[in-house]
Amino acid sequence: MRIGILTGGGDCPGLNAVIRGIVRRGVRGGGHEFLGFRNGWAGAMVGNATDLDVETTSGILPRGGTILGTSRTNPYKEEGGAEQVKRTLEQHGVDALIPIGGEDTLGVARRLHSEQGIPVVGVPKTIDNDLGGTDFTFGFQTAVQIVTDAIDRLHTTAESHNRVMVLEVMGRHAGWIATYGGMAGGADAILVPERPFDVDEVCERVKRRHRNGHLFSIVVVSEGAKPIGGGETASEQTDEFGHVRLGGIAVALEREVEQRTGFESRMTILGHVQRGGTPIAYDRVLATRFGVAAMDAVADGAFGQMVGLHASDIVRVDLDDALAEPKLLDPGLYETAEVFFG
Ligand code: F6P
Repeated sequence: MRIGILTGGGDCPGLNAVIRGIVRRGVRGGGHEFLGFRNGWAGAMVGNATDLDVETTSGILPRGGTILGTSRTNPYKEEGGAEQVKRTLEQHGVDALIPIGGEDTLGVARRLHSEQGIPVVGVPKTIDNDLGGTDFTFGFQTAVQIVTDAIDRLHTTAESHNRVMVLEVMGRHAGWIATYGGMAGGADAILVPERPFDVDEVCERVKRRHRNGHLFSIVVVSEGAKPIGGGETASEQTDEFGHVRLGGIAVALEREVEQRTGFESRMTILGHVQRGGTPIAYDRVLATRFGVAAMDAVADGAFGQMVGLHASDIVRVDLDDALAEPKLLDPGLYETAEVFFG
């Protein structure tokens, strides 16, 4: 078979490991050929593509980002875009497509499969870990490790200056990165989109810590967290999938905490550092397993499906089921994190 691969949406550590896994399995296991479309659906629409083989995908396992490039291009936003993808695949003799992406990229894949009859097998990717049908997406644990390292560093400067440190992390509308990173770093408060927060309550926790002799505090806030009754901090801009650009809540929070507690406060917005660089071992292994399993699913003709992780097993899930609902934070996990709040 001739199999197309593309990476769509925000980049994520482990994308290259998936590409390597698919190609290695497909070439060694079945003599298949591979074509990598550049820049997500943009490349699939116009036929911007490059051949992939064992040589061109060698040495990329630890590399962050994606050798194919990515974009948030949505073929369904372009006049005749879906038909154009179908035509391109036919022109290039592509028998099946493996899109690696989050809910947007895989949402397009699902429609192309059901409406255009394109044979697809998806691979779930996002640092946000907010995709259904899989316990974890690859890239998430790397982002969590980066947040944990940042909190460790903030701790030493916070305690030296007796300051409140407010750390803003990514995650869009799910608090997975904030909660895992905050728990691993020993945060004194974690604010997540799933639970609108009361600024006075956050300040009360900080004051309580001070009364108990801890003269510094670490507050982790997810970019999509909202104060009770208030809106999220977002720009007016939306991408082709209608998502607003989040970020900046730490600016207001730093000011409010300082004003209401009287303690000196500083904020850090970690931003795209969370997506950059080499994947940690966990994500390299998960991404490799996903890549090999996606190739096996193509060979079995399991189209319209996505590979996922259930407990410690790699499984196949219908794209319809996986994309039905975003996977929001597990309330039980947050309750465990709360045990350690100030
Ligand atoms: O979905 C991954 C993510 O990193 C989100 O956590 C964040 O809100 C968004 O992408 C940022 O997107 P961009 O790279 O377009 O700024």
